[in-house]
Amino acid sequence: MAIKEILKYPKNEAALRRKCEPIHGMDRKAKRLIQDLKDTLAGHSNGVGLAAPQIGAHLRVVIVQLGSAEQSGETRRNFTALVNPLILEADRQRRDFDGCLSFPGLFGETVRPHYIRLSGLDEQGEPFERVFEGFDAVVVHHEIDHLDGVLFIDRIERMQDLYRLEKDPSGKSIRVPVSSILSREIQPGNAGKPGLVRSSGSKDPSRDAASSTPIKPNRK
Ligand code: NI
Repeated sequence: MAIKEILKYPKNEAALRRKCEPIHGMDRKAKRLIQDLKDTLAGHSNGVGLAAPQIGAHLRVVIVQLGSAEQSGETRRNFTALVNPLILEADRQRRDFDGCLSFPGLFGETVRPHYIRLSGLDEQGEPFERVFEGFDAVVVHHEIDHLDGVLFIDRIERMQDLYRLEKDPSGKSIRVPVSSILSREIQPGNAGKPGLVRSSGSKDPSRDAASSTPIKPNRK
């Protein structure tokens, strides 16, 4: 049992941006890494996925909690390990909720596939091919991004899609835009990625102010 520290942005950005290497054989070291990921994620009740680089291991392994969109917080949590995951097919791109344990308190809306066909190895080292749909596909896609040094803020298209969650006086979760904080914390410059501080021309007033959309604050 080893709960590892989760690397945070921006402090550990260099490590979070590093591309990960494939696992060659499910040896003791690989099995220990998977157990560390599970132990660490188990310590975060609002986390639904964790990638090896988030605990400083640059190997292509992620852990996901499938069915998290349907489960209540009390449900026993089952984690699935995906080793050397390779996306064979991605479809049904849709805007959805996103967040990350490396960005505590920060959430956003990103466009990700809601259908993914994946190959890889399970934690016994057995090859598999499997389809993930809905929010499961979003979680898997988010975690695989980590293996290539891609973070969810790279997939934010508009500043107003990034927010913190706070409670209003009635206890309801509300979105508080973080544009002003971001201009100091996050700089553009991820080549080929949507620029975070480049505000888009389209104006959607409903997204500007704090909205009261109910959100399940899961993080990955
Ligand atoms: Ni993440």
